[in-house]
Amino acid sequence: MITAFAPATVANLNCGFDVLGLAIDKPGDEVSVAFNDLGAVRIVEIEGDGGKLPYEVARNTAGIAVHSLWKHLQMEKGVDIVIRKKMPFGSGLGSSAASAVAAAVAANALFGNPLTKRELLDFAIDGEAVASGARHADNVAPSLLGGIVLLRSYQPQIDLLQLPVPNNLYCTVIYPKVEILTKEARNILPEKIPLKDAIQQTGNLAGCVAALYQNDLALLGRSLVDVLAEPYRAPLIPEFQRVRQAALYGGALAFGISGSGPSMFALSDGAAKSAQIAGLMEKTLNNKQIDCQIFNSKVNVEGAKVITNYELRITNNF
Ligand code: HSE
Repeated sequence: MITAFAPATVANLNCGFDVLGLAIDKPGDEVSVAFNDLGAVRIVEIEGDGGKLPYEVARNTAGIAVHSLWKHLQMEKGVDIVIRKKMPFGSGLGSSAASAVAAAVAANALFGNPLTKRELLDFAIDGEAVASGARHADNVAPSLLGGIVLLRSYQPQIDLLQLPVPNNLYCTVIYPKVEILTKEARNILPEKIPLKDAIQQTGNLAGCVAALYQNDLALLGRSLVDVLAEPYRAPLIPEFQRVRQAALYGGALAFGISGSGPSMFALSDGAAKSAQIAGLMEKTLNNKQIDCQIFNSKVNVEGAKVITNYELRITNNF
């Protein structure tokens, strides 16, 4: 039995709709896999989903990721999958992507690691696509690889870049406990955008990339502005403007919607500042009696990883 962990992610980062994302330390999903003698992939257990996830492999993000990899490698033995959901659904933290990524990483390890992490991307995206209704990788890629990832292009194939991560960059995420489904949050966006918005977004995305290469946190803060999605999505998020004010008052470099929401994120320079910002953001929602959860960590540069290998553990113990 091999278990992998894949971390939550903050997609878009305001100026990079569908093309930017970063990984955080917690929360994350765990998926375990083991061989079976049935010659088929099946899901044998799902924990922590409140009964919401399908056991049918073809409809489950983790199931599809494993099946897709298993088929590609023409494995003879079947695979049993156990999914431990440790992340909320519809939170904007890349829950479905984390399941798909953990599943792909665990299965690859079970098969003897024939593929690199980068090569697992397409298989994890196969899984994520069924949940979100679109083949985008701004959650999958950072969850898999860690750090801050730019998806320069999706066609004809994915061209991604892992951007430099400033050493002291912290990310605070607050999740108000309401559910927003990515599919729905995409449907409310306009199909066309005004030229002036495209110009602003392009300038900011370029500014963000330059800021990361130059380790210029002030430029990073100025660049993380969202003129495409936030105007439409912010009204769906409880107390969005108040939480923004609290984060900026606490010294956040930038604030915005995590993925398609309702989670919100703030970036900051250093642990002390991020703790202060976390406290202020949480107090803002608590004052309005809105149930929420806070996650505060450095940007996670490691990404998904195998956390237990039962056979190895036995070998090590004896
Ligand atoms: N970029 C996606 C969106 C969400 O904002 O709809 C995460 O993949």
